[in-house]
Amino acid sequence: MSEKKTDKVTGVETTGHSWDGIEELNNPLPRWWLWTFYGTIAWGVIYTILFPAWPLVNSATAGVLNWSTRSEVAERIAAVEEANAPIEARLVETSLTEVPADDQLYSYAVNAGAAVFRTNCSQCHGSGAAGAKGYPNLLDDAWLWGGTVEDIAYTVRHGIRNEDDPDARYSQMPAFGEMLSRDEIATLVTHVQSLQSGADPLAGPGGELFEYNCASCHGEDARGMREMGAPNLTDAIWLYGSDDATLTQTITYARFGVMPNWGARLSDAEIAAVATYVHQLGGGEETAAE
Ligand code: HEC
Ligand code: HEC
Repeated sequence: MSEKKTDKVTGVETTGHSWDGIEELNNPLPRWWLWTFYGTIAWGVIYTILFPAWPLVNSATAGVLNWSTRSEVAERIAAVEEANAPIEARLVETSLTEVPADDQLYSYAVNAGAAVFRTNCSQCHGSGAAGAKGYPNLLDDAWLWGGTVEDIAYTVRHGIRNEDDPDARYSQMPAFGEMLSRDEIATLVTHVQSLQSGADPLAGPGGELFEYNCASCHGEDARGMREMGAPNLTDAIWLYGSDDATLTQTITYARFGVMPNWGARLSDAEIAAVATYVHQLGGGEETAAE
């Protein structure tokens, strides 16, 4: 089978491979192909000398150009940070209530704050800040803890009910399942539902239970209390929900919503920016004049 000979028709030597009588001619590779092939080898060698390439134990060869995508990103970030440093310093120095008076600073804060919000807050509060079950809507003027720009900055910096910041906003609604009977809880569920349509929070058997167990945090008028982060129960805005099952669960087990302390993760400028951003979303409150 493997016998080299010269093909009669073309005069080219065969490789000696023959399949069912069909012989393979030993034509040289085309020049252009061969040179392209050598070219790729040369290019490959030069590339691995210039750029990071060969894996080592813990890293890789750096390449004589000392270029890497990471160092390029780091350089660009450093350049942007340097460019923003003066305005960020101004933002940190300026009192939060005076930021809106400075057009340039205000527009920087709102834009930078929107970026901080998209990266750090949207997974809980939603990309449009409209919230979700257990995560408050930041667009409306119903505030658990306070809606002035300082209140918002404090909430962001220290967080809520987290274990990492001793200054975190804190309060704890008791799990009433341990204190009240099922019937009493059912009475309270109906009572709480009636508050939205203007019922007297202290009237009737539900009102009695409310006054005794709930008013200390939610207020005798059931309009909530910011020092406790206790929501207003007379509006139609629900953090967790107002159907029977949800209310029964809230009252039986309580909720304990937790927000991280962003002071540990964001710079002062970023906190000022995101507080300014959230404040101008729609529900921001004026700081009372001193
Ligand atoms: C891990 C989820 C989570 C993330 C991330 C998060 N939050 Fe929150 N946030 C919460 C929860 C839960 C509450 C409500 C806690 C409660 O029940 O009091 C809250 C409450 C707030 C409040 C108080 C609202 C009020 O009515 O007083 C503000 C303001 C706020 N968040 C802003 C932010 C900002 C700005 C960021 C991003 C820097 C952020 N949050 C990121 C979970 C989160
Ligand atoms: C020690 C303070 C405290 C007491 C007492 C208390 N609550 Fe609360 N309540 C809160 C706080 C704080 C929240 C916010 C939710 C959280 O803990 O994340 C809340 C939330 C709620 C909610 C959820 C509202 C929503 O928007 O989804 C309901 C309903 C509620 N409380 C009803 C009651 C009832 C009824 C009682 C009395 C049986 C009561 N609470 C007693 C502090 C209290």
